[in-house]
Amino acid sequence: MTWLITGGAGYIGAHVVRSMMGAGERVVVLDDFSTGVAGRLGPDVSIVQGTVADADLVKQVCAEHSVTGVVHLAAQKQVGESVERPLRYYRENVGGLTTLLEAVVAAGITRFVFSSSAAVYGNPAVDLITEETPCVPLSPYGETKLAGEWLVRAAGRAHGIATACLRYFNVAGAAAPELADIGVYNVIPMVFDRLTRGESPRIFGDDYPTPDGTCVRDYIHVADLADAHLAAAQWLTRGDAGDVGDLTVNVGRGEGVSVRELISVIADVTGDQRPALVEGRRPGDAPRAVASATRAEETLGWTARRGVHEMIESAWRGWQLRHPGATRG
Ligand SMILES: NC(=O)c1ccc[n+]([C@@H]2O[C@H](COP(=O)([O-])OP(=O)(O)OC[C@H]3O[C@@H](n4cnc5c(N)ncnc54)[C@H](O)[C@@H]3O)[C@@H](O)[C@H]2O)c1
Repeated sequence: MTWLITGGAGYIGAHVVRSMMGAGERVVVLDDFSTGVAGRLGPDVSIVQGTVADADLVKQVCAEHSVTGVVHLAAQKQVGESVERPLRYYRENVGGLTTLLEAVVAAGITRFVFSSSAAVYGNPAVDLITEETPCVPLSPYGETKLAGEWLVRAAGRAHGIATACLRYFNVAGAAAPELADIGVYNVIPMVFDRLTRGESPRIFGDDYPTPDGTCVRDYIHVADLADAHLAAAQWLTRGDAGDVGDLTVNVGRGEGVSVRELISVIADVTGDQRPALVEGRRPGDAPRAVASATRAEETLGWTARRGVHEMIESAWRGWQLRHPGATRG
């Protein structure tokens, strides 16, 4: 198999490339470098610069590299921005995927892995979110991921493509400091950012109906997530594409961690013990979002191996690489 990895120079994509190449799979990366970083990929990785929305380029890359499967990670991913610019998000995430799938069908490719998100669920009031929990996305970003899943499954059924939609929960950590997330959109880099500025971390709401009153999430190490892609890619190739069908699966640890617990681990790792400031709730934050990880284990034989401490330690090493002034407090 040769896998086209779209968005392979991104935070998660670069880990997927590493995991798949480590298992002996051949890969070629297609990335427009809108948020990607070439330095995340080693010199042994074939990289094509361009967009998934360029059907001719995708067909050319697939032909030149004899691509037999696709892992599609390229997307815009900021929830807040998607509320401001929904048309851009639909164009990039749904339009881009449509064009990519047309090229995939034209090239006769029969395996497709799609990056979906727990954002498809919205705020379900359940203890553990299963893949059967109704999807009620609360942002245009989440909508584009849900519409993306529909497209992938419909194209799969119509054109004999075996498909896997992976619904990622809260991704964190890095397999190496240079692979770390460079955005400051998630809670862990947001706390690092505050500490580096000499400010206290913030907690948005401590009056939720959770054990310590703060929001509970399911954090997954990006290296475990990357291995889930490898497991899904291998699952898709275990038989004829037409017989394999489609898989929609949560990728999480199945364990809830509160914001307060997370900040306490960050204090241990960074040595900065300053107390958190409690502010008001942010609109739209669910009290709890934790995956049922059963299907991934039963179907793919995959489970997360790395814990929250390892996620934070590795994320902190990546943060320090880019912020040399950030030292242990
Ligand atoms: N990071 C998370 O917490 C998270 C959670 C759930 C789902 N996801 C999904 O995972 C995927 C990867 O996210 P990430 O965190 O690595 O983001 P990222 O921004 O680091 O990576 C996205 C990559 O795609 C590339 N790209 C964007 N548009 C492109 C296009 N039209 N053509 C070619 N390349 C393009 C970017 O240059 C970048 O390298 C996305 O689909 C995102 O929605 C991420």
